[in-house]
Formats: sequence, structure tokens, C-alpha cells
Amino acid sequence: MKAVASYKDDFLNFLFENISVKEPKKLYEPIHYILQLGGKRLRPVLTLLICDIYNGNVTKAMNAAAAIEVFHNFTLIHDDIMDSATIRRGKTTVHKKWNVNTGILSGDAMMIMAYQFLEKYEPQLYKKLNSLFSKTALEVCEGQQLDIDFETKNEVAIAEYVKMITYKTSVLVAAAMKMGAIIADIPDEEAENIYKFGLNLGIAFQLQDDYLDTFGDIATFGKEIGGDINENKKTFLFLKALEVCNSNDKKELLKWYSSKSASELKVNAVTKIFSKNKILELTKTEIKQYTNVAIETLSDLSISEGKKEILKKFGLNLMNRAL
Ligand code: IPE
Ligand code: IPE
Ligand code: MG
Ligand code: MG
Ligand code: MG
Repeated sequence: MKAVASYKDDFLNFLFENISVKEPKKLYEPIHYILQLGGKRLRPVLTLLICDIYNGNVTKAMNAAAAIEVFHNFTLIHDDIMDSATIRRGKTTVHKKWNVNTGILSGDAMMIMAYQFLEKYEPQLYKKLNSLFSKTALEVCEGQQLDIDFETKNEVAIAEYVKMITYKTSVLVAAAMKMGAIIADIPDEEAENIYKFGLNLGIAFQLQDDYLDTFGDIATFGKEIGGDINENKKTFLFLKALEVCNSNDKKELLKWYSSKSASELKVNAVTKIFSKNKILELTKTEIKQYTNVAIETLSDLSISEGKKEILKKFGLNLMNRAL
């Protein structure tokens, strides 16, 4: 087993050996731009880590890891258009630096490139990976649609929110891990358990993203703080606040969320209501719970205690991330 950090370096070497700026430049430059902006590379690292944990060939998992990361970056370009976001990874978003049409088309090209990485596998493996990938990609679209629908939906239950984030975020984290498992050729049941671990970790991950969107620091988080509030996103923070706050706070929250006018005033007022009602702590508790559920699923895995410990540590680190 390698140190987790070295998977990232190896992956980046592979990725940039396989991505280049070609003509027409206006199609490929934004692709290169978003891919080299940085990012945690969480999903490809998980693909490689899981493959290695099951004694698979890590080099063989590189194409799957690249497919996942290129797909993820494509969803970020389109997500930033949908969320009117101006900053990503501390830099200007693609549709702001170029324009919306560029964001749409370069994004589309990235999705196709993601599939091309999978074409490198032999037919049997290709079929398995491809079908998981397509199922996941469609689910991400479903989650993104729910996210948008919820902006203007008055009553959103926390269970509906969990379903939405499971689709928009967790399934890709889970699939990234399962692809590593598939390449290591482990039994289906074991791969399914890995998927479950990833799914719960992914929910905790998106909860943390919601939390950082309001309470994070732009310098480390790399995204505009308060973006979710300005977009009337039905985040865990908002839904929990409606659940626990008094009728005055509730009225004020609903007033702010009744129109889509972005302002510092709005972000400050809503953040204040969140803080007053201990939403920060309540969100942290929820993140911990999903992380713990993920960690509990590790007991079903047929791997050594040492390897379980690596995955546990990974989960705990993710829970405490600031970026
Ligand atoms: C951002 O994903 C989108 C979410 C699902 C929250 P990441 O937080 O993994 O973004 P990068 O790739 O590290 O920038
Ligand atoms: C993103 O959710 C999910 C996908 C990109 C599919 P967010 O909209 O919360 O992600 P960020 O915060 O912009 O990265
Ligand atoms: Mg967004
Ligand atoms: Mg979004
Ligand atoms: Mg977010």
C-alpha cells in the first residue's frame, strides 16, 4: 500500500499526459483550465485507493479514475452556470471567464472524454464500468434537477434533501470507489459494501460542503461564501433552521428566501439566524452521524483491520476538511 497522497501525484501525472489543448482552442482551453485549477482529487484518489486496498493493479485503475475526475469537472462547469457561481477553486468560473455557451460545449466535450477513458478497458470490464458510470451520471442529473426544483419549492423535507444530495453528490463518490473495486475484480457483494461506504461518506461530504458554503473561508474553500443563500438553496442548514427556530426567525428566513435577489445583506441576515439557532453545531452533528454510519459499514468488509483503519481515517479527515 502507498501513502494516500502519492495516489494524487500519480493520478495528476497520468491525467495531464492524457489531456492536451488542441484546436479549436476555445473548446479545449476551458477544459484544461478547469482541470488544472486544482481541487482535492477526492474521487480519483478513492478509485486508486480502493483498487490498491483489494490488491488490484493501480495503474490499470488510472483510466477509470480519469473518467471520474473529468466527469466531475464537467459537472462543476455546468453546476456553476446553474448556480450563477463566479468563483471556483479560488479562480473565475469557466462561464464567467469565457461565456455560458463555452461552458456548455466544453462541458459536453468533457463528458464524452470521460467515456473515452473507459473505452481503454477490455470488453468485459468496459461493460461493467460503463454501465455503472452511465447509471451514476444519470443520477447526478436527477440530483441536480431536484436541487434546482427545491430552490422554488416551499416545503422540502430533510429526507427529500438527503435524497437530492445522494443523487447529486454521493453516487459519484460511491461509484468512484466501486470502480476501483471492480478493477480489482472482487466479488459483487464486497463491491456493493464498498459502494455503501462511499454513499454515506458522500452524504457527509455534501453536508460539509453546505456548511462550508456559509461558514467556510473563501481563501481555503475557493468558492463564494453565501452562494447557497443567495440562490435560495434548500441546504441542510436552511431546512434545519426552519425546523428548530422560533416563528419570528422562521418568518424572516422565509422572507429572505421568497425572492432571488443576491445581496450581502441577505447573506449576513440569514447567516445570523443560522448562528443564533446553533445550526453550525447541528450540521456538524449530522455530518458526524453520516460519517459514523459509513465507518460502521467497514465492519462488513473482508479486508484487514489495518486497511479498514486507512478508510476510517480517510472518512474522518474528510469530515474535518476546510476546502
Ligand atoms: C464540489 O466537489 C462539488 C460537490 C459535490 C460538493 P469537490 O469539493 O470535490 O470539488 P474539488 O474537485 O475538490 O474542487
Ligand atoms: C454540486 O453541488 C453537485 C454537483 C456538481 C453535481 P453544489 O452546487 O453544492 O457544488 P459546489 O458547492 O458548487 O461545488
Ligand atoms: Mg454549485
Ligand atoms: Mg449546485
Ligand atoms: Mg456547494
